[in-house]
Amino acid sequence: MGNESLTLIDNRTGRRYELPIQDGSIRAMDLRQIKVRDDEFGMISYDPALLNTATCRSAITFIDGERGILNYRGYPIEDLAENCTFLEVAYLIVNGELPDRAQYDEWVRRITHHTIVHENVKKFMDGYWHDAHPMGILVGTVGALSTFYPDAREIFALETRRKQIYRLIAKMPTLAAFAYRHSRGMPYAYPDNELSYAGNFLNMMFKMTEVKYRPDPVLERAIEVLFILHADHEQNCSTNAMRMVGSSHVDPYSAMAAAVAALYGPLHGGANEEVLRMLAEIGTVAGVSAFIKKVKAGEGRLMGFGHRVYKSYDPRARIIKRMAEQVFGVQGRSPMLDVALELERIALQDEYFIKRRLYPNVDFYSGLIYQAIGFPTEMFPVLFGIPRTVGWIAQWEEMILDAEQKISRPRQLYVGSRGRGFLPMGKRSGS
Ligand code: CMC
Repeated sequence: MGNESLTLIDNRTGRRYELPIQDGSIRAMDLRQIKVRDDEFGMISYDPALLNTATCRSAITFIDGERGILNYRGYPIEDLAENCTFLEVAYLIVNGELPDRAQYDEWVRRITHHTIVHENVKKFMDGYWHDAHPMGILVGTVGALSTFYPDAREIFALETRRKQIYRLIAKMPTLAAFAYRHSRGMPYAYPDNELSYAGNFLNMMFKMTEVKYRPDPVLERAIEVLFILHADHEQNCSTNAMRMVGSSHVDPYSAMAAAVAALYGPLHGGANEEVLRMLAEIGTVAGVSAFIKKVKAGEGRLMGFGHRVYKSYDPRARIIKRMAEQVFGVQGRSPMLDVALELERIALQDEYFIKRRLYPNVDFYSGLIYQAIGFPTEMFPVLFGIPRTVGWIAQWEEMILDAEQKISRPRQLYVGSRGRGFLPMGKRSGS
């Protein structure tokens, strides 16, 4: 074997193994040949939380955490956020290329055609308690869509797959807005297909008695950009859930219910809510130094700072920070913005944060924008889930079409008891 290989020596046996290196990785299955005895299972790798394991080849999203780079299909996020609509980026992520005018119009037409949900969806939405968390409602209703579209099981039929993709991108904002309105006891507002994707979402959220809802163009664009920034982020927890559940060849609605459930967790989709709580706790610019001191003393974290992958400024945070100023121009400046700016200013010149390479992440400013637009905090993870639907289905389709993929089934290191003798109940201790 040439230079592109790894030589391993098993000190238990003295045997030497040559493992091929491809794209800077070795195949975990190549470890299986490493054994002490012939009848052994062979060596496996141990990687709780998949910290250092690639589970797929993907051509969708590229992140360079060291340099703060995020690309969808090779295009820098900054260019896409500056120049595209969300549905244009959705087309890019799903199809791999930016659309020309005709392709774009057809894509928008098809998605818009599917924005309405079956009336029965409203019935079971009505069954949730008035204070049900909208993410809980979303988990249930997205999964339930599989029962409305049994054709979705045909996951290897291109046309059927496409149809579910249109439906999912189209219906997520409708389900999300209905969940919100249910929690407020407000009548559901139906989609307005004359509006943009973001404009229609604002319409379904906030329309009151007016005959025609007209979104403010600055707020509409802000939602559009926030959707673009959240559309995909390679193999994160919810995307991994989508791929893993989808690997059983279940329909995409059921797999997406798992992805939404993963996003619901506070370690994933809920951090921006925590940022707002933190800012409220700090209260004023004057309280920032004392708070930073507490964080450095290990009493809590600076929420919205730090990232597993980004070890420099999260490129999404930079775009969102600019967007915040525009939104506040329309909605009035939040006093919390000054607290956030002061926190960032102090943290970025503090040795503790510099040494650990902790910078603002996507969640640091997004919650402030959502709050300024009028979204309640429990809607924040929902606002993440709507655009991430695009990433989830693109990643799901990539997985379905990848000949190397099989049902996802990790190994374990068993550490429990073995070979115990069975005792009838009367003979167990305490009886
Ligand atoms: N404030 C203070 N200290 C921190 C923070 C923070 N936000 N984040 C990390 N550290 C410290 C941590 O205490 C540790 O210090 P030491 O080496 O002295 O023990 C060091 O930095 C490394 O931290 P870690 O926990 O090993 O890093 P991680 O990669 O496991 O965690 C993280 C990443 C995002 C969970 C973490 O930075 C964090 O909890 N941040 C706050 C929550 C947050 O903003 N989450 C949103 C993530 S972005 C949304 C998304 O893309 O899904």
